[in-house]
Amino acid sequence: MTDLLIVENAVKSFGSLRAVDECSFTVAESSITALIGPNGSGKTTLFNVITGYLKPDAGRVSFNGRDVTGTDAGRLYRHGLSRTFQQARVFPQLSVQENLVVAGGYSLRQLFTRRVSRADREKAGALLEEFRLAPVADLLASELSYGQRKLLEFAAVLMSGPRLVLLDEPTAGVNPVMIETMERHIRERNTSGITFLIVEHDMNFVMRLCDPVIVLDRGKQIFAGHPTDVQSNPLVLDAYLGS
Ligand SMILES: Nc1ncnc2c1ncn2[C@@H]1O[C@H](COP(=O)(O)OP(=O)(O)OP(=O)(O)O)[C@@H](O)[C@H]1O
Ligand SMILES: [Mg+2]
Repeated sequence: MTDLLIVENAVKSFGSLRAVDECSFTVAESSITALIGPNGSGKTTLFNVITGYLKPDAGRVSFNGRDVTGTDAGRLYRHGLSRTFQQARVFPQLSVQENLVVAGGYSLRQLFTRRVSRADREKAGALLEEFRLAPVADLLASELSYGQRKLLEFAAVLMSGPRLVLLDEPTAGVNPVMIETMERHIRERNTSGITFLIVEHDMNFVMRLCDPVIVLDRGKQIFAGHPTDVQSNPLVLDAYLGS
């Protein structure tokens, strides 16, 4: 399998804290890879470095065979690398449907002057159906439950036709039914060719869905392997038990 994403010796410091510390790992094309680790181990910072929200102090990020280190988030998004946020980010004052259309790359002005292509309107409509958001399509995103907002954010990411999607804690604060829904959508989209890198604290979810699992501790990769080997690995146990 080819590596769609390669992170090599990435470093990101905040003052004297090395949040990401010489971190290296790869994500194979077509995989659902998990990135786990204790709170504060650098997972979100790494996501920010990979997706162009933060520039690394050192190291390299390659996506789809190209060096994309320090490339801005918008450009990466257009090239097929997109992500969700630990605290779901949607436009609260736009409707659910408008949020999807904007994610397709339209400006608010184009949105309000209705200069949105028919193909993109249809794409948004299909996602609304697929994610069962059609009944709430005209509600403001701010009126949705937290779980629905996370689902909307995930659907919005798919408007860009991504090859790699990074999900930062897709199930956090989400009810069990919505977790199942999220899991089903990830599986379906993976089957249709999207690669996933998922930060997640819910180990049952990780065990069911992800392979391989990468474990981060203090900004470094300490384990990468099959999910069944994670929980018995001494380095991983040490990291979680805080020795
Ligand atoms: N913008 C920032 N400025 C200063 N310190 C930061 C900043 N962002 C993160 N940190 C620190 O970097 C370390 C790694 O944080 P990060 O959010 O990447 O961890 P995480 O693994 O995502 O944790 P969690 O599981 O709690 O989401 C933490 O000690 C955090 O306090
Ligand atoms: Mg985080």
